[in-house]
Amino acid sequence: MNVLIIGSGAREHTLAWKINESPKLDNLFIAPGNAGTRALGTNIPVEVNNFQSIKQAVIENDIDMVVIGPEVPLVHGIHDFFLQDKILWNIPVIGPVQKGAMLEGSKDFAKFFMEKYHIPTATHKTYDAHNFEEGFAFIDSLEPPYVLKADGLAAGKGVLIINDPGEAKNELRAMITEERFGEASAKVLVEEFLSGIELSVFVLTDGNSYILLPEAKDYKRIGEGDTGLNTGGMGSVSPVPFATREFMQKVEDRVIKPTIEGLKEENIDYKGFIFFGLINVKGDPYVIEYNCRMGDPEAETVVPRIKSDLLELFEAVNNGTLEKTKIEIDNRATASVMLVSEGYPKAYEKGKIISGTGNVNNCVLFHAGTTMDIDSDKIKTSGGRVMAVTAYGANMDEALKTAYENVDIIDFKGKYFRSDIGFDLK
Ligand code: AMP
Ligand code: GLY
Repeated sequence: MNVLIIGSGAREHTLAWKINESPKLDNLFIAPGNAGTRALGTNIPVEVNNFQSIKQAVIENDIDMVVIGPEVPLVHGIHDFFLQDKILWNIPVIGPVQKGAMLEGSKDFAKFFMEKYHIPTATHKTYDAHNFEEGFAFIDSLEPPYVLKADGLAAGKGVLIINDPGEAKNELRAMITEERFGEASAKVLVEEFLSGIELSVFVLTDGNSYILLPEAKDYKRIGEGDTGLNTGGMGSVSPVPFATREFMQKVEDRVIKPTIEGLKEENIDYKGFIFFGLINVKGDPYVIEYNCRMGDPEAETVVPRIKSDLLELFEAVNNGTLEKTKIEIDNRATASVMLVSEGYPKAYEKGKIISGTGNVNNCVLFHAGTTMDIDSDKIKTSGGRVMAVTAYGANMDEALKTAYENVDIIDFKGKYFRSDIGFDLK
């Protein structure tokens, strides 16, 4: 098979690394990819939202399957674009159709869906320009802190958690009337705050049945002890110790199964990953958010724990035979530490030479913001999140120890990382 992966981050490098192991693979293409994916296949300089150029790449390279990494092309309907095209309609796309991607693309739709199918989530109400003043009374009816969420995609920045009711009301008005998050905050959700510890749960579904993947925990804040600004993710671990068999049974019964049933009920032919952003409130799972793709940085610890052939699983997704397919999981733990550029998530410099990547041991490097400088034949930084260092271990502590040993081997000017990944699980 010739496979095209859409995206350019560490998640896509991880998928490329895993797919590259498959005996079913002939040629691997990544659009646009990074310096890491370049070592595994052919990078195609096409942007993820340029569907016409993707179509051309699919035809030119005789692609047999397309795997979509990030949410934006899914929310913009890339799968539907394939289905409606006379040439592309028969090419399998891993990633949901636009209606399915709405679970991530509209938080209001996700809430409607969860309420309809009795999936546990925080109480909420949605407001727009016509009725946001009614939201003030709803804020007064809740206990602080108050959670305000932009309805649409906001690159992980659309959630505000505010302690003061007056400030929450001002923000609600400003998000809607001043379009703080552009079109994404034309509608805003006001939500009850849930207190607990978060985890990320993933399934692969063919729209009828599903396979549960290993769970993970990600670390979103830039600073040690989960402080400071939100980032695209500073590291992750898998498995998550508090995700016991009993807890995961509740997740399957109360969250996953009703979600799959709900999708069927809504006639949404969902083929791809579903990411459940959950919070454990006193032993009970609640859904904070759905995503229509694998997580990043969770992919960097979850995918390496899948022993089965990922292309075989994707074929089962496409053929609707997932029910008969088994997945084999590696019992070892994985830990991943993200190396980022000094200054990130604010302004940072690019173009720093990365050294030491050839000297690491017992770990896998998943590139995020890297490019290969053709003239010097050196790998350089090209983004805020630069590279994930993933290691295996008999348990989380051992995986973390090996990951951090290798973190010290890689260097570039302004290298920063969190030294406390997994701190809250020990
Ligand atoms: P989201 O973009 O929906 O993932 O939200 C970003 C982050 O805000 C989540 O990872 C949580 O840490 C936090 N969050 C969102 N909704 C709630 C809630 N209802 N209660 C507590 N924390 C929340
Ligand atoms: N790790 C959170 C996300 O991928 O959105």
